[in-house]
Amino acid sequence: MKNVVLIGFMGTGKTSTGRLLAHRLRRVFIDIDKKIELEQGTTIREIFKTHGEAYFRACEMATIAKVSKYNNAVIATGGGAVLAADNIKRLRSNGVIISLSASVEVIVERTARRRALLPLLDCANPHGAVVELLNVRHTLYQGADLHIDTSNKAPQQVVDEIVQFLRLGGYLRGRSGG
Ligand code: S3P
Repeated sequence: MKNVVLIGFMGTGKTSTGRLLAHRLRRVFIDIDKKIELEQGTTIREIFKTHGEAYFRACEMATIAKVSKYNNAVIATGGGAVLAADNIKRLRSNGVIISLSASVEVIVERTARRRALLPLLDCANPHGAVVELLNVRHTLYQGADLHIDTSNKAPQQVVDEIVQFLRLGGYLRGRSGG
């Protein structure tokens, strides 16, 4: 069965939704950022600090290329995965793409606690950084099979919507849907 791939900006709920969704579908959950951290033996924040964003993007691309060959997984990407067309092309070749979004205010609020871990938002004006990044990326998040605005939704509700979509689209089989 195809992978289920979550894309979307930071703070839209990709990781929390992905983990719950994988549990519900009894599939493996893969968080691309976590996998990069394991492979590199350090945190995303340190990778940005020591090697710069371009190096991080290269790691991200290599990890996505590997993970795109899996089957049956639920995959949460980092918010910037959409910046490289090749990433989306690879993920799409064996996956259903679900795009999560949220309002700027909700994103700023949800990312506030882990801002120190998010190099692109760890600045004097995180609200401005979110607006600026979203301006650049907005259209890149559009090319998905399903779009869900998670601003006013609990992760469980988002999972229900995704499962319903997957079921209707014939992407699931069996009782658990995995
Ligand atoms: C990034 C998002 C982060 C992480 C890195 C860069 C981005 O992932 O990959 O800090 O460019 O939007 P999350 O969206 O999972 O927080």
